[in-house]
Order: sequence, then C-alpha cells, then structure tokens
Amino acid sequence: MFSKNIYISRRRTLMEKMSATAPEGQRGIAVFIGNAEAPAQYRDNCYKYRQDSTWLYYFGIDQPLYAAVLDFDEGRETIYADDFEIGDIIWMGPQPSVQSIAESVGISESAPYGALNAVVAKAMAAGRKVHYIRPSRYYNKIRIAELTGRKPCEVDDNFSETLTRAIISMRLVKEQCEIEQIDDACALGFEMHTTGRRGIVPGIVEQEIVGRMEGVTMSKGWGPSFPTILTQHGETLHNHTHDKIIEPGKLMVIDAGAENNMHYASDFTRTYPTSGKFTRKQREIYQIVCDCNNLAFELTRPGITYREVHLRTVRLMLEELRALDIVRGNIDNMVEAGIAGLFMPHGLGHNMGMDVHDMEDLNENLVGYDDDQKRSTQLGLGSLRMARRLVPGNVVTDEPGIYFIPALIDQWKAEKTDHGFVNYDRLESYRDFGGIRLEDDVLVTEDGARRTGPARLPITPDEVEAAMEEDRK
Ligand code: GLY
Ligand code: MN
Repeated sequence: MFSKNIYISRRRTLMEKMSATAPEGQRGIAVFIGNAEAPAQYRDNCYKYRQDSTWLYYFGIDQPLYAAVLDFDEGRETIYADDFEIGDIIWMGPQPSVQSIAESVGISESAPYGALNAVVAKAMAAGRKVHYIRPSRYYNKIRIAELTGRKPCEVDDNFSETLTRAIISMRLVKEQCEIEQIDDACALGFEMHTTGRRGIVPGIVEQEIVGRMEGVTMSKGWGPSFPTILTQHGETLHNHTHDKIIEPGKLMVIDAGAENNMHYASDFTRTYPTSGKFTRKQREIYQIVCDCNNLAFELTRPGITYREVHLRTVRLMLEELRALDIVRGNIDNMVEAGIAGLFMPHGLGHNMGMDVHDMEDLNENLVGYDDDQKRSTQLGLGSLRMARRLVPGNVVTDEPGIYFIPALIDQWKAEKTDHGFVNYDRLESYRDFGGIRLEDDVLVTEDGARRTGPARLPITPDEVEAAMEEDRK
C-alpha cells in the first residue's frame, strides 16, 4: 500500500471534482465495489486474487469483499466489509479488524458488508443519484444490479459518466509514487524478457520459455500483467498457444509484461530470429518496425495527440514499405485510405498503469479519446486505444508492428480494399513471413518523454543479434 495520505488526497480530489458537477444536495453518492474471489471450479478453489484497480486507486485495500460509499453531499466516507469470524480464522489465520483496515487508509467509518444494501436503498428512495463505474467482473455487475434494482444486463449502460470521467481524469496522469511503481514493474518486465530471449533455442517447446518467464514475475512480483504472447506465428496478434517446437529460421514474437506487488504493469514486445541471426528479408522488415518505434518515441511529448503520433508513424511505415516495392503510390493518399491497416491492424499504443490497458474496463472511448476526437472506423486506426492530446504524467505504450496475415491479404485483394496501392505480386513472397512487433513503455514528461524502466531491451537488429550471441556463449 502507499501511505495513507495518498489515498486521502485522491479521495479528496474526487470529492472536489464531483462537488463541482452539481449543487450541494444534488450530488448523490458513489458506490465502489471491490472484487470478490473468483472460483476456478468450486467455491474454495479460486483463481489468484486480483483486486479491482479503481478500488485500489482510492482505497488501497487488497482484500476481497470490500465496498465503500462516498457521499458527495455530506462528505462522508464509509467502508463496508465483514470482520473475520472463528471459521475464517481457522483456515486463514488471524486478521486485523475491518475498522483498523479502514483507518489505515484514512477512513474512520466502517460497517458490515450487508449494510450497504440499506444505504443504497435509502439513497434511491430519497431520489438521490447513485453513481457507479462500469464493473469489470460479473460478480460486481450482479451486486450492483441487486443494489440498484436493475437487471444485470442494464448495469453497464447505466454507469455514471460523471464519476467515470472524474476518475479517468485522475488515473490518466500518474503521480510520482505511481511512476516509481511502473519503473519497478518495467525492471521486472526487463528481467522477464531477458529470460525469454535466453530461452530461444531451436528444438524446445515454446511453453518451456513461457513458464520460465512467468516464474520470474511470480518470484518477484504479482505475476504476468496479461497472458504471455510467445509465438512463431506473430502474424496472429494475440496468440496464446505455446505448444510449438522452436524451429530455426523463424521469427519469435514475445509480448509480455510483469505486474509488481503494488499491481502496476509493464508491457514489452520484442521479436527475435530463432536462429540468432536475421535473414536479409527479416532484417529489412524488422528495421522498418524499429524505425517506427523510434519515430513514435521521438514524437511523444506534451501537446501532440497520440493519434497524430500513430498517423506519422504509419506514414513512415508506408514510405519504407514503398521502398521495398510492397506498396506503390502517393503516401498521403495511402495514409488517408488506411492502407497501413493491412500491415498493422492495431493501434500504436494504449494507456498503461495498474491495468496493462489502463482503465479500458471503464469505457475505452472515454479513457482514450478527448471530447473533440472521434474514433476512426478504419482497420488499425480504429483500434487505437489512446488518441488523446498528451500531458505530462501519461504513460503509454509505443508498439508498432508489421504483420503478413494471409487471410487478410486475400480478403483485401478479393475486395479491392487497397485502392490499387498494394503490390500483391511482391507481397506473395511474404505470405509465410509471420509478424514483427516492438513495444516500449513511455512516460510523457514536462518537456518530452522517457522510456520507463532501468534500461531498454536490445532493439536494433545488431543489438538483438549481439545479445543472442552473448546468450549462447
Ligand atoms: N501487450 C498486449 C497488448 O497490448 O494488447
Ligand atoms: Mn501493449
């Protein structure tokens, strides 16, 4: 946990923001539901517990079955949870009281978990607003349905946009204490990736490397920040199967991150030649992705939108693909027509914080788009999750990629989606190429940006080959 004052100050800011949205007496209450345990099979055999990130942000208590109410009219804060009884203590050992836990995060009032129902019912009966954010877990959806008298299927659509916007405005700008945690998670991610790169030896099964990498994160942190992507089929963007034997001559995409014990994430991607050396053809495409990653970082600074960074990055990608005669024609027109989507059908990056895709449970567009920005429907640009004008304290990923996806190439060719810009004859020889993605995590600073973590993973083709040679000594 951070110090008590961090949570007190965050809640005070939230109270102020919510107070500014309506006159006193009409502001209502906000209900926050922490995560419950999630059974893997039966009730007592659960998935590893992960608390809700917004809950952690404001209340810090990393335990299941906690809830809280903030009353924006009366300025009151109450924690709802049940004290352990002897039955719990026998299985789980003694625990501090709910009241002392509440006090440890600066809240003086606590009540049993079940008391929440009557509090919400009373507020609703009095015609007061009951704000809640969109729950990421089904249990919480059911709980909010119970509390508000809605059907579970109505819960998402009735989330409080006012509360959600206030929370997003705070969590988007990382505090110094959070930046330190992200740097820490990146240090762990660095170690995880180094372990992964060292494991690339033709003849072994991919899963073996995944296990070693995830072991690093679990021995020093909470665990992986998302299911590890490790594949010789990098053209499949999120390939979670790891059953292939490593073959020489392939490209291996490793997209993985660590979550530290304070629940902050890292998210890195590197692509390695399984033989330790790139072929000429692999190196050519790799260099383009590397140039795009570097350009995006150079452009990242306060004042520019990340949408603009995405567009300028894919413009460079198209220029370099044109130099290889894979696309032909006017670059401006190609960018406008969304031709980059054939090669990079995802956005340049996303916000990162406690969630690897920070706050996307709350509402992707409210998180990633300013009010004057409209999300594109083009393949690639339409998947851009962070388009906003950057401000110091934003933490984003910089993750361009080039993928040769046979089914997508065939579809574009058949449907003439490329408007004549794609040289399919040349593209034919890339059908079995796979994919390349290179991802760093970046903090927007007062005067530019810096990559988070203690060091950058080897990224230029020469650095990668040198590191792999060293690994194999
Ligand atoms: N690194 C996984 C993702 O960004 O979706
Ligand atoms: Mn990512």
